[in-house]
Amino acid sequence: MKTKLAFLILSLFVVLESGVSAEETNDNVEAQVQALLAQMSLEEKVGQMTQIDFSVVSVLNGEVADNPIDQAKLEDAILNRHIGSILNTPTTPNNQTQPIEKWRRMTQAIRDVAAKSRLKIPVLYGIDAIHGATYTENAVLFPQAISMAATFNPDLAFKEGEVTAREVKASGLDWNFMPVMDIGRQPLWPRLWETYGEDVHLAVTMGSAYIHGHHGDDFADADKAPTCLKHYVGYSYPLNGKDRTPAWIGERALREYFLPGFEAGVKAGAPTVMVNSAEVDGIPGHVNHHYLNTILRGEMGFKGFTVSDWADISRLYTRDKLAASPREAVKMAVMAGVDMSMVPFDYSFYDLLLDLAKTGEVPLSRIDEAVSRILRVKYQSGLFDRHEPALDVEGNFVTDEAVAANRQAAREAIILAKNDQHILPLSKQASILVTGPTANLLSVMNGGWTITWQGATEHLYPKDKPTLLQAIQQKTTGKVTYVGGKNFSDEINIEQAVTQARQHDVVILALGEKTYTETEGNIESLHLDPVQLQLARAIFEIGKPVVLVTFGGRPRIITEVANKAQAVVLGFLPGMEGGAAMADILFGDTNPSGKLPISYPRDVNDIVMYDHKPIEAFESNQYRPLYPFGHGLSYTTFQTSGLRLSKDNIAMGENIDVTVKVKNTGALTGKETVMVYLHDVAASVSRPVKQLKAFKKIELKPGAEQTLQFSLTPQDMSFIGVDMRRIVEPGEFEVMVGNEVARFQVVKP
Ligand code: NOJ
Repeated sequence: MKTKLAFLILSLFVVLESGVSAEETNDNVEAQVQALLAQMSLEEKVGQMTQIDFSVVSVLNGEVADNPIDQAKLEDAILNRHIGSILNTPTTPNNQTQPIEKWRRMTQAIRDVAAKSRLKIPVLYGIDAIHGATYTENAVLFPQAISMAATFNPDLAFKEGEVTAREVKASGLDWNFMPVMDIGRQPLWPRLWETYGEDVHLAVTMGSAYIHGHHGDDFADADKAPTCLKHYVGYSYPLNGKDRTPAWIGERALREYFLPGFEAGVKAGAPTVMVNSAEVDGIPGHVNHHYLNTILRGEMGFKGFTVSDWADISRLYTRDKLAASPREAVKMAVMAGVDMSMVPFDYSFYDLLLDLAKTGEVPLSRIDEAVSRILRVKYQSGLFDRHEPALDVEGNFVTDEAVAANRQAAREAIILAKNDQHILPLSKQASILVTGPTANLLSVMNGGWTITWQGATEHLYPKDKPTLLQAIQQKTTGKVTYVGGKNFSDEINIEQAVTQARQHDVVILALGEKTYTETEGNIESLHLDPVQLQLARAIFEIGKPVVLVTFGGRPRIITEVANKAQAVVLGFLPGMEGGAAMADILFGDTNPSGKLPISYPRDVNDIVMYDHKPIEAFESNQYRPLYPFGHGLSYTTFQTSGLRLSKDNIAMGENIDVTVKVKNTGALTGKETVMVYLHDVAASVSRPVKQLKAFKKIELKPGAEQTLQFSLTPQDMSFIGVDMRRIVEPGEFEVMVGNEVARFQVVKP
């Protein structure tokens, strides 16, 4: 009775408040959370911490059923098990895209049952909308993160966040498992392409912009949605390159390379964090109290909730052998700081945690803490205020503006790596042979989490989006011949390709990878498939000019082919508009401006990052990738000059301003990214030869010049010192832009 009264008073208080400040809003949410928590039974609390896969409440073959919901199962999940969250699509692992109206009906059925529950706590529906609303039919699917990074254009990442949140919400969904803030410094890893590449500053900039677009001012707004930072932390750096295998990351490297992305994500307001599925230094992510509490909450000030990755709590027992039983696994993970379990196929977590709580092995205070965090995000997301999809489909799904933004992102993502004798752009009258396994597929440009989990079901792809071949055919009047198969693995008739090559002006050779994600994408080597090399070698023998185009998530080794080709265009995963955008570039309708977000390796073991240590480029050691980080040509030329610093000396704690001029010295309008690198000349811990600290992308007409200004902060000059604290040391620094270097001193106080 007492608690009910308290709840009423608090609710009244909340309702009476309007036009309140952010701080007061927080207080209101806090009051609502505490009032609700006070009414909850232990079962209801443990249920909130449980996330199940849709298949648990789906009929058989739910992906094709008109109504995939098994009402009895859904009611059991929500009314008896009180589950807090659902993820995925009706059939896992064969997740498949669903029409938007069906999504709205499915999520409505869930909202309707939640509304019948005792406390009417909404279910939070999570989805991997990693490059747009992945599982909603015909959604706008952007370039994947590696390609978004290649745009060096945070405005486009912001736009992607906006469009994704809007389409997720129009689908009736609530919560997006994106952005990936892992740093991509292990090119063999099958999820490299889900990252923003090897550089910390670039990843921080693009990831933060994405979150801001996705959240707007308030992610409770109808067209906004909460994000989830993943996979905290160190997941992206497996020593052997295979997914979900150990990383060995010392504290300094962790703080310097792997934490800043998450720190930035927390600062940008991401309210949820997904835990690293693997392990760092022998400690699985899901039991790492130090990372989940001391660092994430203590140092970064994260206030939201953490969610496990797929089945990873039970894997502490079944795989990692840290726990002696499934029960102990639940206890370890919850006590380490995991707030929600992506179980995902049963109620084992619910049953075990309930029992652990009843016996006091997991204290109630810990349950209350986790549940408060989850409820807080539900309130902050506006879930309690809505009983139907937040947005209409009309005007919010596949708008012309969203499609145009996607096309622009794809254009800016594509990297012109080589262009001998200006063979590109091609004439639209040229006769062209198009061949190679990535020439006529949409899947190879989209990657995993596209329509299906692995993204490989080509026949489900939209019919109105052109492959590279189709886009070339649409754009040109010359003869275009294709020699290739229908599927990635179809054998290409090399003899026929060679015969045809002789009869055309130029060959567009499209190589690369098929689509994949997660462990299914593990490979033994970065070498290209031997058959692709055979095709390339046979074509080169006849001496016709070759334009090499690549698609795929990892930098497969193309050195031999790239050296012989007249032009090389790196597509990575430019998304649904990739074919059209690639044709725009090949024929000069778009001037390329993409820059490499990774160092493109020369050979399989050439794994040296651009921000390597001096020792990695000393004596016979070299940084000698096929193409360096930041590389990317244009059809025009740019020159940077006049690099100037605001001062020669600054005091500790001061900023320094950098000025540089950039000029379009060619004959075409184009976009250039000006990159500012910093080097701490001598320090008590070895420092990278250079680190990107700022960049700006601008468009210039032929002959036009612009002066750009940047400000470098003490944070930019800092590093993780001997005692693991972030410090700035006095001494000399070099600022590098283009071919110029300027020096300044940080002076002791
Ligand atoms: C496993 C993946 O590691 C993670 O990125 C994803 O969000 C979850 N599964 C949910 O699908």
